[in-house]
This record gives sequence, C-alpha cells and structure tokens, in this order.
Amino acid sequence: MSRLTGVAPSILSADFARLAAQVEEVMAAGARLIHCDVMDGHFVPPITFGPIVVGALREALPDSAVLDVHLMIERPERHVEEFVKAGADHVTFHVEATPHIDLTLNLIREAGASAGVAINPGTAVGALAVKPDMALCMTVNPGWGGQPFIRGSLDRIRKLADRHEVVEVDGGVDTKTAGPCSEAGATTFVAGSAIFKTADPAQAYSDILAAVGG
Ligand code: DX5
Ligand code: ZN
Repeated sequence: MSRLTGVAPSILSADFARLAAQVEEVMAAGARLIHCDVMDGHFVPPITFGPIVVGALREALPDSAVLDVHLMIERPERHVEEFVKAGADHVTFHVEATPHIDLTLNLIREAGASAGVAINPGTAVGALAVKPDMALCMTVNPGWGGQPFIRGSLDRIRKLADRHEVVEVDGGVDTKTAGPCSEAGATTFVAGSAIFKTADPAQAYSDILAAVGG
C-alpha cells in the first residue's frame, strides 16, 4: 500500500485562498499524499470544509495526487460515500465517532477508496480491532494544527505497527519528531504547520522526508 506511505502535507495549515497553488508547491518537491482535515464542529470544536473543497482540489490537481481525507466528524457512515464521490482516494474516520466501524469501512471500500481508522490519544490502542488499510495514530488531540507532539505516542505507534502495515502519525510532526515516529514503526507522516507555516513549504517537505530516511 505504498501510495499511502510517505510525508503527507496537511492543507489545514495552508493558505486556503490559494490552496491548489500551495499543494502544487509541495507536489513539485515530490509530495503525493495530500492530507485533508474535515471537521464538523461536533466531533471536534472547529469547522473546516466538506466534500466541495475535496472536489475542487481533485479537479485542480494532477491525477498523481492522492487525496488522504481525515474525517473528524460524528457518524461518518452518513458521509463517506459523498467524500469518495467528490474525489477522495483514501478516507479515514475515528473509532470514537461511530458504533458502526465495520460498516463504515465497508462503505468506503465499496465506494472505491481505501479506508483508514483513527484513534485519539486518550483511546486504548486495542479499540482499533479491525483491519483497515491504514491505522491513524493521533499524536495530538484532534481539532487544531500547531500543537506539540505528545511524547507518550511513541509506545502507541509501536503497538499499532505490530498489528498494521500502514501507520500514519498526525499532529506535531516535524523534523525532530518524525524520526522517532519512523523508528517506532510509523510509515506515514502528516505535517501541517511544519510545512505550510514556513517560508519554503517545498524545502520543509524535503527536510521532513530526509528526517524519516526518505
Ligand atoms: C489535527 C489534524 C492534523 C493537523 C496537524 O486535528 O488532524 O492533520 O493538520 O497539524 P500540525 O502538523 O500542525 O500538528
Ligand atoms: Zn489530520
């Protein structure tokens, strides 16, 4: 599942008025996996965007872009098909957001995308009892970019990596924290502020990739 591995710039920290241009900058440096954070104001307090923005990015970006959509929304089973139809290549939802984990996985796959399951820092690793295409380990509390990496996450990453082939880490990932995550077994590294809040997002992407030996 190599299309789901690598450094995934998160558009949450990008300039939304020039979203496609910002994504093209990091794609020019080699980025393929583009992380899109969807928040509903319920599962997490902030509201970001929905399928319309995912569809607009799909239209604007080359086919080589892999849209990695991270749903921080309640009852994701009601919305996953809409996101795949809009152009998501991969959809991750939270175990804390629905009692229908297996159903939601099936809905995503039947719609034609790969499926991920995410867990919050306060959720036991064992709650991720299914076999998704990706396990997402939140390394901050979800909802905001720019928070510090929670150090205790490394042990959780190790446990997830024992059971899952693709482990994405999300939150506080930068040139310092990405290496230890990689050593713990993470395969996929979401970085928002460490890429888009810098003067040179393409260079920042390359620096994080180098930190994980890519
Ligand atoms: C937070 C989001 C993250 C966010 C990470 O809830 O899921 O994807 O963009 O931002 P940084 O990399 O700034 O911690
Ligand atoms: Zn995310």
